[in-house]
Amino acid sequence: MANLETDFVGIKSPNPFWLASAPPTDKEYNVRRAFEAGWGGVVWKTLGSEGPPVVNVNGPRYGAIHGADRRLLGLNNIELITDRPLETNLEEMARVKADWPDRALIASIMVPCEEAAWKAILPRVAETGADGIELNFGCPHGMSERGMGSAVGQVPEYIEMVTRWCKQYYDRPVIVKLTPNITDIRKPAAAARNGGADAVSLINTINSITSVNLDTMSPEPSIDGKGSHGGYCGPAVKPIALSMVSEIARDEVTRGLPISGIGGVTTWRDAAEFISLGCGNVQVCTAAMTYGFRIVEEMKRGLSAWMDEKGHASVADVVGRAVPNVTDWQYLNLNYVTKARIDQEACIKCGRCYAACEDTSHQAIAMKPGRVFEVIDAECVACNLCVDVCPVEECITMVELASGSVDPRTGRTVEDAYANWTTHPNNPAAVTAAE
Ligand SMILES: Cc1cc2nc3c(=O)[nH]c(=O)nc-3n(C[C@H](O)[C@H](O)[C@H](O)COP(=O)(O)O)c2cc1C
Repeated sequence: MANLETDFVGIKSPNPFWLASAPPTDKEYNVRRAFEAGWGGVVWKTLGSEGPPVVNVNGPRYGAIHGADRRLLGLNNIELITDRPLETNLEEMARVKADWPDRALIASIMVPCEEAAWKAILPRVAETGADGIELNFGCPHGMSERGMGSAVGQVPEYIEMVTRWCKQYYDRPVIVKLTPNITDIRKPAAAARNGGADAVSLINTINSITSVNLDTMSPEPSIDGKGSHGGYCGPAVKPIALSMVSEIARDEVTRGLPISGIGGVTTWRDAAEFISLGCGNVQVCTAAMTYGFRIVEEMKRGLSAWMDEKGHASVADVVGRAVPNVTDWQYLNLNYVTKARIDQEACIKCGRCYAACEDTSHQAIAMKPGRVFEVIDAECVACNLCVDVCPVEECITMVELASGSVDPRTGRTVEDAYANWTTHPNNPAAVTAAE
């Protein structure tokens, strides 16, 4: 059996599945049950400094986007950091860590952007025996209006400054949690690295309004007729998270900086994808909130079986494997030619591929008598829309044209699909020759 143990910046855990800082990790009761269910680690729900209590709304905190089958695809929340007393959280963390020494326990922290505030809380967190801290520079609502969360995460200079304080006053690993509400994720990641961060974690939630009630004209979740943007997460945000993770993994400045991947991880496959793009482990929130703690069993089983099948002995062996294949558009091979192929046995004759292609794309699918749909190679540009709209998995696939064959659309062989390929900037050979 593949070994799922991970060592993330010196923090060991029996598997790469950590619960992200959120309601599932808000208290001792939850975290104990999470560990019993098999989670490798937790990032405790974000702690704030002592002072005026954090008060959450008493109306709905969450909104959601559902698929047609009512499966939850995206979750929006307007919740704040923990509203439980700091001392209570610290006591509980210490007890849980003492009882579960083999599991990772990370303290997420968000205090005002002042040195004194960080200096005050860090020794108290250290006393709990927590394995490290995660700086919450990500939450986009409620706390950001008070100069914390994403208000810090959007200013690289602040990230660097606070990270430096933490490295000065705390001697265990410091993970900086990044907000995706920014144009270029490499900038805050580089700032974290400059400040001495041991790792970054991403993504926190994305600014969102999930819906508007058309009777009351209030955004939802609606609090007495008014709504505000919340933070979006769940399966819908995974593509955004993967892209941001890959940007950090392959950037010259941030390459090699350990990454904890977060955003829509629901299955072992999602986790494997984050890991292949450079993450040392993953964190999960929405999937646990939707399906309960036992979802980790399937994640562990699936990842382990896949690793066995592929011959990966350890998680570390998978980390970053896909990174060399992430490139810029300008390096994509324009001489790679594919065509859509429809499996007539699998086709249910719904005609979605035909409607999509005929009305909006390249008129490359013919509807023949008996609702038989066939690809017209001379028109097919291989856009993939038919594959994407087809309700039957694997019914339509893109098949690469064999070497030497002629593309009826261009009349050129696949080796020479692009008339000016020898000098085209996408051709690495042309670029090398020009240099
Ligand atoms: C209800 C809720 C509360 C959250 N609270 C926090 C928090 O206190 N601190 C934090 O860093 N992230 C918080 N998050 C963000 C999650 O930790 C995570 O970054 C995000 O949900 C993306 O992961 P997911 O797609 O697996 O949910 C919260 C998310 C949700 C849904």
